[in-house]
Amino acid sequence: MKAFFKLYQNLDREGPGEAADVTWAMQVGNLAKDAHILDAACGSGADVEALLEAAPKGHVTGVEKHGGFVKEARARLGNDPRVDFKTGDMTQVTGPYDAIWCAGAVYFIGIETALNAWRSALGTGGFIAFSDACWWTDKRSKMARTFWREYAGMTDQAGIEEKINAAGYDLIAARRVSSQGWEDYYTSLEARIAKLRPDADAELAAVLDASVTEIATWRACSHEYGYLLSVVRPR
Ligand SMILES: C[S@@+](CC[C@H](N)C(=O)[O-])C[C@H]1O[C@@H](n2cnc3c(N)ncnc32)[C@H](O)[C@@H]1O
Repeated sequence: MKAFFKLYQNLDREGPGEAADVTWAMQVGNLAKDAHILDAACGSGADVEALLEAAPKGHVTGVEKHGGFVKEARARLGNDPRVDFKTGDMTQVTGPYDAIWCAGAVYFIGIETALNAWRSALGTGGFIAFSDACWWTDKRSKMARTFWREYAGMTDQAGIEEKINAAGYDLIAARRVSSQGWEDYYTSLEARIAKLRPDADAELAAVLDASVTEIATWRACSHEYGYLLSVVRPR
């Protein structure tokens, strides 16, 4: 964990995505300017500014299980009275929230578990926007399958919609997280890897190697998988 955090410390974000994703999703959900929003698994708070742009008179609560990221998020945005960050489990939230945003973290628990956990935290008319790993094709290379082997529930776009329906939600709209959102993230990660490599001990070297593999896999297989951003509302 120490080595893992060393790699991710003070990066702009901890997963693929960009501000345009937030803007699009909040428009699709018809977010009010004074909305209360939960950023579930907010990491170091990469998306909070874009969320506040969508709801300038509102409030954003970031919940993140890794205390180090919470500390970074507070250092970054903690002076803004419209924001607060908590260390905690994203499934243990109460609300009520007008919107729940979750970038690149639903795969830790699965779509159904996440949507079921968040239902009671949504206020009337509230919506959820989440990005999740998705297969774009049935022709899946060994490289891509090996990388995603631990996400047993990973499926294609139709499969994600089925899970959304099965959890009692309607899909409002979906779109892919852009290649730019992946490239920006991986470019900053590559710079960090290069900086840490010369003095890396065995534990850190293993974490760096895993990241190099992750980046190479996406560069070789981005036509096979990516993140689908879905905006959903409970029925
Ligand atoms: C890939 S990062 C994405 C972070 C941020 N949303 C972003 O896009 O930069 C996934 C984050 O989910 C957090 N996480 C995983 N499971 C969690 C849980 N049950 N509750 C809260 N945070 C969780 C991890 O600690 C990590 O910071």
